[in-house]
Amino acid sequence: MIISCSGNKETPFETTDQELESKNSITKSYFGTTKEGVAVDLYTLTNSNGVELKITNYGGIVTSLKVPDKQGEFDDVVLGYDSLSSYLEETPYFGAIVGRYANRIAQAKFTLDGQEYSLAQNNGENTLHGGLIGFDKVVWETEEIQTDNEVGLRLRYLSEDMEEGYPGNLEVEVHYTLDNENAFKIDYKATTDKKTVVNLTHHSYFNLKGKIDSDILDHFVTINASRFLPVDNNLIPTGELWEVTGTPFDFTQPKAIGERINDDNEQLKLGIGYDHCWVIDRENDDMIIVASVMEPTSGRIMEVYSTEPGIQLYTGNFLNGTITGKDGAVYNHRYGFCLETQHYPDSPNKPEFPSVVLEPGDTYQSSTVYKFLVKEGE
Ligand code: GLA
Repeated sequence: MIISCSGNKETPFETTDQELESKNSITKSYFGTTKEGVAVDLYTLTNSNGVELKITNYGGIVTSLKVPDKQGEFDDVVLGYDSLSSYLEETPYFGAIVGRYANRIAQAKFTLDGQEYSLAQNNGENTLHGGLIGFDKVVWETEEIQTDNEVGLRLRYLSEDMEEGYPGNLEVEVHYTLDNENAFKIDYKATTDKKTVVNLTHHSYFNLKGKIDSDILDHFVTINASRFLPVDNNLIPTGELWEVTGTPFDFTQPKAIGERINDDNEQLKLGIGYDHCWVIDRENDDMIIVASVMEPTSGRIMEVYSTEPGIQLYTGNFLNGTITGKDGAVYNHRYGFCLETQHYPDSPNKPEFPSVVLEPGDTYQSSTVYKFLVKEGE
């Protein structure tokens, strides 16, 4: 097919589809060396629209994600650091793969078949996000993937029996893909040789404005959930499921994060804002839309699809300006939000919650998509 571009009516020029189409690509560069002397890479995945995703095999961390706004301007919409050394120093899980158990396990222990397992207390008396050296702090093996419609990276890690206190050699595979419809997909798989618990998630902090110099309170969020999990003062779910209707936790219709975040509400005080797991309205574990976010000034929209029963909305409540991130940006209170698809926190101690137990011979599987669009008609 021949397409005419009439930039100048006097002298129209012609070009073929082949010339117009830009190809997706994947490149690899050196990102740094860990304290143990392991060299770590940074992969740059670019789709045919110019959306660019950078991932390092240290923690499977997404370090940068550039997507267009309503004017077609590309900006980085995730928080993070410029260099590996900063990630090694200290990070609130920026962009990382989180596991073996995302979120909290109360008192850092659980029992399986009568055997009690003790984990690191790295969050008060609880364990958080896999313990002292979770999946966000290990180096993953990688394999590049490229087809006409998508570029991707397959990451593999063997979490050995009793690593961080969890039973079973767990073989984990995380498959990141960026397709030409601006969807960033994460597929997780795991198998074990002993009964264990697994709950994996992704921990990007988003700020869809792109210029990360203000908070995320004006972002409109929708969550496909009519219930959420109230927490105690250790941020552990009480086990109850509360209806969101009439509360600041009602995101069944688009609502600005800031609209009720400072309400005089006990749950908001316990979370210092939103730091809760919502119970997705679903009938099975099919991939469905679970949340969406719209930022009015840029017109950027992020839709989240998942197979998971829960989603944690964390509104960057612990960011306090002590972290200087990419390009010298200071990450102040609530400058980023996370939407972490997952099973419910503390499920190993809550038999009434959907099971997180993985048996030998079975495969843990979970998928989540973050899809980027812009607001129509603007
Ligand atoms: C999660 C938790 C938060 C906080 C962040 C990391 O999202 O729910 O309470 O620990 O990780 O700072």
